[in-house]
Amino acid sequence: MRYINEVDLRQKRVLIRVDFNVPLDENQNITDDNRIRAALPTINFALDEGAKVIVASHIGRPKGKRVPALSMAPVARRLGRLLQKDVKLAPDCVGAEVRQMVEALQPGEVLVLENLRFHPGETLNDDEFARELASLCDVYINDAFAVAHRENASVVAVTKFAPLAVAGFTMKKELEYFKRSLLDPARPLAAVVGGAKAMTKLPALENLLEHADKILIGGAMANTFLMSVGYDVGRSMVEEELVPVANVLLRNAKRQGVKVYIPVDCVVADRFDPKAETKLVTVQDVPPNWMITDIGPATSLLYREALADCKTIIWNGPMGAFEIDAFSRGTYNMVSTIAQSYALTIIGGGDTDVAVAKAGEIGNISYISTGGGAFLALLTGEVLPAVEALGGI
Ligand code: 3PG
Repeated sequence: MRYINEVDLRQKRVLIRVDFNVPLDENQNITDDNRIRAALPTINFALDEGAKVIVASHIGRPKGKRVPALSMAPVARRLGRLLQKDVKLAPDCVGAEVRQMVEALQPGEVLVLENLRFHPGETLNDDEFARELASLCDVYINDAFAVAHRENASVVAVTKFAPLAVAGFTMKKELEYFKRSLLDPARPLAAVVGGAKAMTKLPALENLLEHADKILIGGAMANTFLMSVGYDVGRSMVEEELVPVANVLLRNAKRQGVKVYIPVDCVVADRFDPKAETKLVTVQDVPPNWMITDIGPATSLLYREALADCKTIIWNGPMGAFEIDAFSRGTYNMVSTIAQSYALTIIGGGDTDVAVAKAGEIGNISYISTGGGAFLALLTGEVLPAVEALGGI
């Protein structure tokens, strides 16, 4: 894989694929612009080198149709504000009008293309669509780690047709931290995995067994593990069909010498509601009609101690339903444990970054991934198609 700083960008038409799939509210206001900020080093570098910069991304899932609510317009405006320069928005991402706008671009100028997914060719990884995109540029730069797990035209097929295809600084940083955290970590390596659904996390846990020294489980997915070792979890959310799978995973972990931690106490509520009645119980004592909504303080302490000697910590997924205050303490305890650690700490996916941001601890984490699905795919051991297309890690 080659990188942006290894190629000549002067006077070149440079197509930068970013992931500006940012959350928008009902009035198309951006509610979190982290992904736009993360791409600034790459965009600024290209501008400073005297490139004519074309920025391309998708937002949402418009399914190959033009959906005005998913226009790149708010993103182009925000990018202009962050770059402190005039940023033009093209009416489409391919076609004659776009080509004219690209031809008119001067070094140091920025043109944002309209949502790539307005064309069905994008998610179909279509060669014709990719060829058209590639024809807009002399150099293609992929800085869109967060969509690297998708076999889409603008991150995979495009590399066959672009005169030169390299990675940007965000992609570089993401892959470097992946190597340092999972492929060649300082040990002990711990993975903290939470979130609602065991279904989406079990493949990652299976892969983590091959890499981690300790695995700490939280969130509603922990209920499935608790049930698999015989606890009665009342009315808690459980994926019953996965109970045997969870049990096999725990037994495999033991055989492989990986220490897996599951909660020892929890917050239970009489209903899933901010005004619910709650109490703290051990996992042996979950009342029949109550549900587990968070890990308890003894678990937070146990997890803090388990992480104390770790030199690398990866965290994906909250410890409880932290969007509700009464169920948020376990997640915030984990935020502070990880923020106070001297280990290399990497966080990604599943709203984990939201909890870190709310706690004001972003500056105390070694790296916060821009990826959700892509981060989880790496934890699962998947090869990312967009990374392969650039020549692999
Ligand atoms: C993401 O937000 O995870 C990426 O932009 C990928 O989006 P997708 O899940 O709609 O492909």
